[in-house]
Amino acid sequence: MRSSTCLLLLLGMQLFILVPIEANDFSSFLSANASLAVVVDQEYMTMRGENIMAHVEKILSDIIRENLRNGGINVKYFTWNAVRLKKDFLAAITVTDCENTWKFYKNTQENSILLIAITDSDCPRLPLNRALMIPIVENGDEFPQVILDIKVQQILNWKTAVVFVDQTILDDNSVLVKSIVHESSTNHISPISLILYKINDSLRGQQKRATLRRALAQFAPNKHEEMRQQFLVVSAFHEDIIEIGETLNMFHVGNQWMFFVLDKDPRNFDPDAVTINLDEGANIAFALNETSPDCQYTLNCTINEVSLALVTSISRMTVEEEFIYGEISDEEWESIRFTKQEKQAEILDYMKEYLKANSKCSSCARWRIETAITWGKSQEHRKFRTGLYRISSLKSLPLTDWISIDPTRDAKNRNFEFINIGYWSPMLGFVCQELAFPHIEHHFRNITMDIVTVHNPPWQILTKNSNGAIVKHSGIVMEIIKELSRALNFSYYLHEAAALKEDYFLSSSTSTNESVRLSTFFFATPSAISCLQDELIGSMTFRIPYRVVEMVQNNQFFIAAVAATVEDPDQKPFNYTIPISVQKYSFITRKPDEVSRIYLFTAPFTMETWLCLVGIILLTAPMLYAINRLTPLKEMQIAGLSTIKSCFWYIFGALLQQGGMYLPKADSGRLVVGFWWIVVIVLVTTYCGNLVAFLTFPKFQPGVDYLNQLERHKDISQYGLRNGTFFERYVQTTSREDFKHYLSQAKIYGNGQEEDIEAVKQGQRINIDWRINLQLIVQQHFERNKECHFALGKESFVDEQIALIVPAQSAYLHLVNRHINSMFRMGFIERWHQMNLPSANKCSGKGAQRQVTNHKVNMDDMQGCFLVLLLGFTVAFVSGCFELGYRRFRASRKRREFTN
Ligand SMILES: *[C@@H]1O[C@H](CO)[C@@H](O)[C@H](O)[C@H]1NC(C)=O
Ligand SMILES: *[C@@H]1O[C@H](CO)[C@@H](O)[C@H](O)[C@H]1NC(C)=O
Ligand SMILES: *[C@@H]1O[C@H](CO)[C@@H](O)[C@H](O)[C@H]1NC(C)=O
Ligand SMILES: *[C@@H]1O[C@H](CO)[C@@H](O)[C@H](O)[C@H]1NC(C)=O
Ligand SMILES: *[C@@H]1O[C@H](CO)[C@@H](O)[C@H](O)[C@H]1NC(C)=O
Ligand SMILES: *[C@@H]1O[C@H](CO)[C@@H](O)[C@H](O)[C@H]1NC(C)=O
Ligand SMILES: *[C@@H]1O[C@H](CO)[C@@H](O)[C@H](O)[C@H]1NC(C)=O
Ligand SMILES: *[C@@H]1O[C@H](CO)[C@@H](O)[C@H](O)[C@H]1NC(C)=O
Repeated sequence: MRSSTCLLLLLGMQLFILVPIEANDFSSFLSANASLAVVVDQEYMTMRGENIMAHVEKILSDIIRENLRNGGINVKYFTWNAVRLKKDFLAAITVTDCENTWKFYKNTQENSILLIAITDSDCPRLPLNRALMIPIVENGDEFPQVILDIKVQQILNWKTAVVFVDQTILDDNSVLVKSIVHESSTNHISPISLILYKINDSLRGQQKRATLRRALAQFAPNKHEEMRQQFLVVSAFHEDIIEIGETLNMFHVGNQWMFFVLDKDPRNFDPDAVTINLDEGANIAFALNETSPDCQYTLNCTINEVSLALVTSISRMTVEEEFIYGEISDEEWESIRFTKQEKQAEILDYMKEYLKANSKCSSCARWRIETAITWGKSQEHRKFRTGLYRISSLKSLPLTDWISIDPTRDAKNRNFEFINIGYWSPMLGFVCQELAFPHIEHHFRNITMDIVTVHNPPWQILTKNSNGAIVKHSGIVMEIIKELSRALNFSYYLHEAAALKEDYFLSSSTSTNESVRLSTFFFATPSAISCLQDELIGSMTFRIPYRVVEMVQNNQFFIAAVAATVEDPDQKPFNYTIPISVQKYSFITRKPDEVSRIYLFTAPFTMETWLCLVGIILLTAPMLYAINRLTPLKEMQIAGLSTIKSCFWYIFGALLQQGGMYLPKADSGRLVVGFWWIVVIVLVTTYCGNLVAFLTFPKFQPGVDYLNQLERHKDISQYGLRNGTFFERYVQTTSREDFKHYLSQAKIYGNGQEEDIEAVKQGQRINIDWRINLQLIVQQHFERNKECHFALGKESFVDEQIALIVPAQSAYLHLVNRHINSMFRMGFIERWHQMNLPSANKCSGKGAQRQVTNHKVNMDDMQGCFLVLLLGFTVAFVSGCFELGYRRFRASRKRREFTN
């Protein structure tokens, strides 16, 4: 019984804890009036020479009376800006200077009060989602505020900027520079590095142009380097600046240009006309002054408008709350109704919506922003250009799309389309529905580009279906294209150059079979190769199909997705990207045979070692004989060593480890034999060890490791070189004699028969090709015969750079290069190489052992051993002498004793 109450209690407590404690303590508009504070700073008003407090009260009460149909608003008025508002205030309208507005904002944040602040011009905007700030901008003085708003709203995300400003504008707007360099941590405005250039706008004509050119030239890009710069131009000379900048190539995909157009009447300005000469790819935006000239700004009007916006918003929310409240139960209402913050956010949204539609007074100043959509435009407008022929593509376009429109009809630059992205007004700041420079962030904006390609494994592998449409594409180059399309935000259609040729240049159907067969080219699939015996294995990139070059030249394509050898880049009608691969040449020969093993047993020692070995045997035998013989005591002498011959056999037998039947009894003799045994141990051990090594690692005859060794190999009589190699071209400029000699002798082969791989196998021929192609041959023969007959040269020569092709003057070359570069840095390209190119071939493991050179035992190794033997002899000899002397001495003493 007690335990169950306990349990219930516990459960109850738990329930209590689970109930959200953080209840919505802000009463809804249904149960309480909204409370509003109006703070009009008396000091500020006297400073401005206006006093509107009385008017404000009147205006506000009029508006509430006339517009608030539901609920109620309690308004409290203050004339002192340091007032601390209590938590139950929903919103506050303030009129004070910039500094106090920010102070007030910071103070009211903890109590969460929606702030509607009317303040000075040149004031950094309060956070847009928490407050509404209306700077009082005098007519014509809006630049500092515009610049501040650009920074606060991050319209231009620039880290550096070059600013060109007219002298007169700088003089008129003293705070302009201050707002350009403004930085703040509360608003997350990071500092930017800035170059400010003043334009003396009293200059005219030639002098003006010369000055502008001098100023701009400092920032002009040099040819092979991509610079990314940002320019902000506030000048009456924008047309001159665009013109001069264009001649200096300063309008390219990396740069961003923002122009404030100072023409009084925006209708006089036509962005299409100003940019008529610009190339595709420029990032350029214009801000146009749309201020209505007959507009009067008054504080009265602004307060009126803002109050109206606030009151209608509250009224609208109250209506909504009533509607919802009527639909649901009280409990549900408690759980779903807005908290204070949510309510404020909603009111702010409603107010902005209202002001966008209805504001009249403070929207006097208004700047419209237009930005250019240019990237890839020539692709989109391709169909409008003259001299175009139809192109077959994966997409079947209706024929009407290709009918070219009369080019004289429009005089504007087809590559530029200006879109209105929004406007600036003092009340709302920037109201934009698109980025100021959409291409910088979104690159090609998901348009579709045309890319020309040819089938050339492993670089481009096109898989087609039975209708001849490309259904799949892969290979190194295609992987790069896929990554580019992802990074640069475009999709693409592939046009196969060969397919076009069929369609438009060979009208007869007879040759179709041939070209299909040629383009059906397999890579690294032995079974497929066997049915195309005549085809050469592997690929070449030196010769680019003529059609590709022609098509690229016509500038119809974004890029040619073909791997092409970089050669004389300055003389080509197109441009190469940075190299995506470097391939080297090598040669293939028959693998050298093993050296005959008949003399293998002599291999461990060099000739001198063997001779010395014989020498010491011949020397040691007499030595042993002499020591044995000279032993003074007859009983010490060993009968078995009494002749030179038997000594010789003893020594020889010991060397071959047959053992000796006898041992000298005298110490001298024992020393000789003992030291000999040391020699024997060393000799035998080194010999055995080395013999094993020679047996394990076979020795090969010298092969061709380097091309200049060819002369030594008279049996190689035919030299082969694949047709269409860069090597052939390279040799014309090289100074290497062996290359020149080779080329003069070489037969150029173009098919499997001429390649004559059988002759290479026989050792009569040597072929030069890309190393990867040769590796493929070796690999294939290994797979078929499980034997390794071929050897590749140790030397790899002639670095052939391989790159993609873009049309000459393509605006996007640097952009593509930058992305290829980052693919390199991230290791993508290396990975695609590994996936698509043959790895080190299967025979290289065994072939590599050819390089092991065994160490031969030579005199350097053995001299210590021989010296030891010599020492032994010497010690034995000295010892023999002692023995002799001692014996003499003993004998003479005995004799003396005897005679005594
Ligand atoms: C709420 O506002 C109405 C009209 O604005 C007013 O008549 C009423 O007295 C107010 N109620 C309270 C509690 O302040
Ligand atoms: C914008 O246009 C208005 C009306 O034509 C003009 O009064 C104002 O000075 C212009 N602003 C600037 C910065 O030139
Ligand atoms: C601007 O140019 C005028 C006319 O050439 C010249 O008189 C004036 O000194 C220049 N102003 C400056 C600041 O260089
Ligand atoms: C503001 O409006 C009131 C009437 O609503 C008027 O009496 C007053 O003069 C106006 N003030 C200014 C500065 O226009
Ligand atoms: C690609 O462009 C489209 C159209 O402008 C844009 O909506 C999208 O966000 C872009 N994607 C990327 C990854 O930039
Ligand atoms: C880009 O375009 C392709 C086809 O045109 C479309 O399938 C894809 O959804 C688009 N992507 C974006 C982000 O707009
Ligand atoms: C592109 O090619 C032209 C000539 O074909 C050459 O003059 C130019 O320097 C090349 N551009 C780059 C960026 O390499
Ligand atoms: C090499 O190829 C080219 C074009 O593919 C051809 O014109 C030429 O005859 C070939 N040369 C040889 C020796 O096969």
